[in-house]
Amino acid sequence: MTARIIDGKAVAAVLRARIAEQTAGLPFRPGLAVVLVGENPASAVYVRNKDRAAHGAGLLAQTIRLPASVSAADLLAMIQRLNADPEVDGILVQLPLPDAILPRPILEAIDPAKDVDGFHPLNVGRLQDGLDVLAPCTPTGVMRLLAADKTVLRGVRAVVLGRSAIVGKPMAALLLAADATVTIAHSRTVDIAEECRRADILVAAVGRPEMVRGDWIKPGATVIDVGINRLPDGRLVGDVAYAECAAVAGAITPVPGGVGPMTIACLLENTVKAALRRRLAHG
Ligand code: GUN
Repeated sequence: MTARIIDGKAVAAVLRARIAEQTAGLPFRPGLAVVLVGENPASAVYVRNKDRAAHGAGLLAQTIRLPASVSAADLLAMIQRLNADPEVDGILVQLPLPDAILPRPILEAIDPAKDVDGFHPLNVGRLQDGLDVLAPCTPTGVMRLLAADKTVLRGVRAVVLGRSAIVGKPMAALLLAADATVTIAHSRTVDIAEECRRADILVAAVGRPEMVRGDWIKPGATVIDVGINRLPDGRLVGDVAYAECAAVAGAITPVPGGVGPMTIACLLENTVKAALRRRLAHG
């Protein structure tokens, strides 16, 4: 068997075009503020891509660059300013923050109604309750990919590899809300390969290059690879050994061109959702 490739680039392009069309029909431009602290080169690339995609979809996007030396108090003051700004519908503070700044108080200072990353504890809790919230962008993107591939979720066994707050935990909550039977496997799981072999849907989000091997995959399973790992030789690979797994799976996402493009598209989607909710709620 050779797996069907789930083309995240194509699905994301359709989603971005739909958002652009929706935005063009609004009497206001949804506003997104991205805060970048310091000089992390990977973060700089992500933020540039977010800014470009937001402008492309007709959003009013601004990137606020602060030096790595900024104090937590000054960063909090910036968040308060954005919370109070009626033109700003979505606020995203790019992670990781410099070591001297604890992320939690910063993320908790963001108005939950503008929390387009879905990292505020109020939104985390609402997601666990199965409510329709601003959910984290990467797992939301995975759900959009599964929908685009017409994957059946109800009742099936889904295994999430990894328990991070950004991907693993919210991914499990979204799959559960869609009636999947969900297992979270992680670095302390006794037999991780055996857990994976039971999965009809496997979502790998561990950040370990090519950890998932071909003999971990149930024949015909859907394999979603959230990992983006740079190897010493410069190659970009996922958490899944692609060729081996594609020989067994029914459907699989490539890296790059799978989940990655969906994350940004879902950020735009969350910004429009936040804008509609806020501006309708505020009359
Ligand atoms: N850094 C890596 N992924 C993310 C993300 O989804 N959101 C934010 N804010 N920072 C990140």
